[in-house]
Amino acid sequence: MKKNNDIVLFKDGKRYDGRKADELRPIVMKTGVLKRASGSAYVEWGKNKVIAGVYGPRQLHPKFMQNPTKAVVRCVYNMAPFSVDDRKKPGPDRRSVEISKICTEALENVVLTEKFPNAVVDVFIEILQADAGTRCVGLTAASLALADAGIPMRDMVAACAAGKVQGEVVLDLMKEEDNFGESDLPLAVTPRKKEIVLLQMDGKLSREEFTKAFNLAVDGAMQVSEMQKKALLESPVEVEK
Ligand code: CDP
Repeated sequence: MKKNNDIVLFKDGKRYDGRKADELRPIVMKTGVLKRASGSAYVEWGKNKVIAGVYGPRQLHPKFMQNPTKAVVRCVYNMAPFSVDDRKKPGPDRRSVEISKICTEALENVVLTEKFPNAVVDVFIEILQADAGTRCVGLTAASLALADAGIPMRDMVAACAAGKVQGEVVLDLMKEEDNFGESDLPLAVTPRKKEIVLLQMDGKLSREEFTKAFNLAVDGAMQVSEMQKKALLESPVEVEK
């Protein structure tokens, strides 16, 4: 969280981009966008643009990495060099390794891995344009892509962040709010049971603020979940010729 005392992020009940405290950015979701992936999804969320592709389940090689009781889920989060203001050096860095790990762990909770011993399910999250909250957008897109691939899952994963900006607890921080705000709390839920499969926090919140931000983010994720359902119902049905 950078310091900038000049930027006004919350005034007269309105945020930097005109949203109310509990309002999400506009979100568009689409599935079946990649011809060669087993399943895919594209999500625009505010100024974020993210694509997710799933490959598998298929036999895992090398063999010693196989698990005879269940499939291995591997999720890779990658930011394109042109996705941020300063060109991002291509390839993994500390941040993308961390986000890949937390996304893998969130998805392992929902994929019915026991149905596919010795197999691997690969999930790729590509950030084409970033404007804060990309781990939430990526995870939401990855879950859609898994469903699009027809991979058996106990539940979906829907994610959203909340945080604190100039003293106000707000939903779904955009870049300026993320950069100059006081705190950011991304989380992911499984909508049916409302289990938390990801919870992280940057900055500082009081106990009351934490509870408020947590509940706000869960409500946001539940709205995201409804959009996922709609996107899946609207997804094109392929007829084999
Ligand atoms: O994207 P998310 O909020 O999940 O993760 P973050 O580490 O809190 O990053 C917040 C934002 O900082 C990203 O969404 C990008 O817009 C920006 N960022 C950047 O400009 N350059 C990077 N190398 C990494 C992040």
